[in-house]
Amino acid sequence: MRIALGGVTSSMGTEILAGLSELSQPHGGAEQLHLRLLTRHPEALPALAEGYEVASGNYSDSAAMEQSLRDCDVFLLAPAVRDPQRVELHRNAIRAAREAGVQHIVYLSFLGAKEDTLLGYGKDHLATEEELRHSGMDFTIIRAAFLMDYLVQLRDERGIICGPKGTGTCPFIAQRDVSDTVVGVLIDIAAGGGGGHSGKTYILTGPEDLTVADAVSALNRGIGEARYSYRGLTREEAMQLLQKQRPNTHRELIEQATETFAAVEAGELSVTSKDLRKLLGYDGLTVEQWAKFVLQSN
Ligand SMILES: NC(=O)c1ccc[n+]([C@@H]2O[C@H](COP(=O)([O-])OP(=O)(O)OC[C@H]3O[C@@H](n4cnc5c(N)ncnc54)[C@H](OP(=O)(O)O)[C@@H]3O)[C@@H](O)[C@H]2O)c1
Repeated sequence: MRIALGGVTSSMGTEILAGLSELSQPHGGAEQLHLRLLTRHPEALPALAEGYEVASGNYSDSAAMEQSLRDCDVFLLAPAVRDPQRVELHRNAIRAAREAGVQHIVYLSFLGAKEDTLLGYGKDHLATEEELRHSGMDFTIIRAAFLMDYLVQLRDERGIICGPKGTGTCPFIAQRDVSDTVVGVLIDIAAGGGGGHSGKTYILTGPEDLTVADAVSALNRGIGEARYSYRGLTREEAMQLLQKQRPNTHRELIEQATETFAAVEAGELSVTSKDLRKLLGYDGLTVEQWAKFVLQSN
């Protein structure tokens, strides 16, 4: 069984690779697992890629993608989150996988994937999911909630984390819980018969549905000091602040961030699900626990 991993250079992808690495030897009677790492920049991958097949993979180049996916049974499609053309890129990658004979695609989607949403990228995730549903291949969709790891990245140099005004909530999830779930799903699929995951859409949420203000307080409780503070902004205020703070950031990305403000404010991401418990056997780390384990020593 050979699994092609997209997005392996991202922080999530690196964790998924680490999880699979421990299992990519013959184990538990399963057939040997081979990994092929896809990246647009294979030359930048050596440290990560030691001992693995590496293939040049740019979703924009269907012919090269098809070539890179040959002999692969499963393809982890990580979204090209920062590219405005992402739906077209994902369509290319899905078609290339079908042409290459891939049997099963696992797509890393987002909780806000729906038609009726303020999130432009939520609609894009949904469009990719639809493409998969009509692809004729086996597929599994993993929709992850807002990552607590990503929340911390939103801080400025004074530790201020901006969030939407109001009482909108998010079931923040630890990236580690998402990557562990992806690893488990891929291993099950590799064991044969789709691992019971074919045609499934999983919704991964953390155990608590919190406002951003409460999530920031939970971070500080976990760390044991008031390292971060929260500032509530309207979407327009967020747009102005981000443009000022990050003048070199693509407008599309700033719009994505402020769309997220609006969607949280409207309660769109306030969803709870038991899928993490079903797949991983526990409800996931709370923001406070995650901060204690991951941030306290940093
Ligand atoms: N749920 C959440 O709150 C949340 C928040 C942030 C991110 N995420 C998820 O985490 C993952 C990584 O996000 P990130 O912010 O860390 O993104 P990132 O650093 O920009 O990484 C994007 C990854 O996608 C690959 N990629 C991008 N465009 C590509 C293309 N045209 N062809 C092939 N590969 C392409 C990149 O591969 P190469 O550069 O090696 O080619 C890279 O590994 C994504 O799956 C994203 O959906 C989730």
